[in-house]
Amino acid sequence: MSRIAYVNGRYVPHADAVVHIEDRGYQFADGVYEVVLIHNGAMVDELPHLDRLDRSLRELRIAAPMTRPALRSVMRELLRRNRIRTGLIYMQATRGVARRDHPFPKNPVTALVMTAKRVSLPSAATVENGVKVISIRDIRWERCDIKTVALLPNVLGKQQAKEAGAYEAWQVDDNGYVTEGTSTNAWIVTKDGELVTRNANQSILNGITRLTLLKLAEREKLRFVERGFTLEEAKQAREAFVSSATSFVTPVTQIDDAVVGNGKAGSVGLGLREAYLAYAAGEGRTP
Ligand code: PDD
Repeated sequence: MSRIAYVNGRYVPHADAVVHIEDRGYQFADGVYEVVLIHNGAMVDELPHLDRLDRSLRELRIAAPMTRPALRSVMRELLRRNRIRTGLIYMQATRGVARRDHPFPKNPVTALVMTAKRVSLPSAATVENGVKVISIRDIRWERCDIKTVALLPNVLGKQQAKEAGAYEAWQVDDNGYVTEGTSTNAWIVTKDGELVTRNANQSILNGITRLTLLKLAEREKLRFVERGFTLEEAKQAREAFVSSATSFVTPVTQIDDAVVGNGKAGSVGLGLREAYLAYAAGEGRTP
């Protein structure tokens, strides 16, 4: 079955899905995006993702591409046409097409594209053994809370991780604190069993998975705190993991050359992963 994409009002075969060369997303990375997990044929945390999309658009003063009910119906139609059970919806909204000039164009028309793709979930071995992350300097701008398509530092960081045989690169600020991964949020469990993730400010993307995990941690009565942690603290931690719509909770068992804990996935991370999967199959889904 061929893949179908949504491009500015039309459903088209993926191979024919094109935008204009003067789309400001292409010229200036002047746009925002969201990635929504599809689990058992349903979207997970759809509404929080759409809330964050609205916020990103507002922060950049880009008009909403359509009303929320219309957007939700496009998402559903795309899933239906692509028959996705496990996968992702990617949506991107840009400040539209205009003759190249840095200031906002007059009367811009927001451009919207959406794709859906199947993905397989991390394997049982990956979950059990955990993954490696490397550390890199955080060279991004001061509005990492906006989910913009300007991802060049993230792309370079992820490539560096890949070349080092690692799953992710943790970005470290000039004070030695881990901000986040290139496409995931970073977590540790300290030696005395406290769950820690960086407080959400303008130096990280406030992950929707992160927010759900905090809610689940509270419900499970885990001891947790939102604060910065240094790379050194992470290397000494009992457990570490990353979170995102695509990796849920993926245990981290190596940071640079340091083995985390006993080198196997830890119980807090695995427990949260289970809780997240139950949430994704239950209250977190919107049909
Ligand atoms: N990335 N931090 C960054 C920099 C991210 O790009 C992402 C998501 C996250 C986790 O956010 P969430 O839990 O809402 O997925 C944190 C998506 C998946 C991507 O770029 O593909």
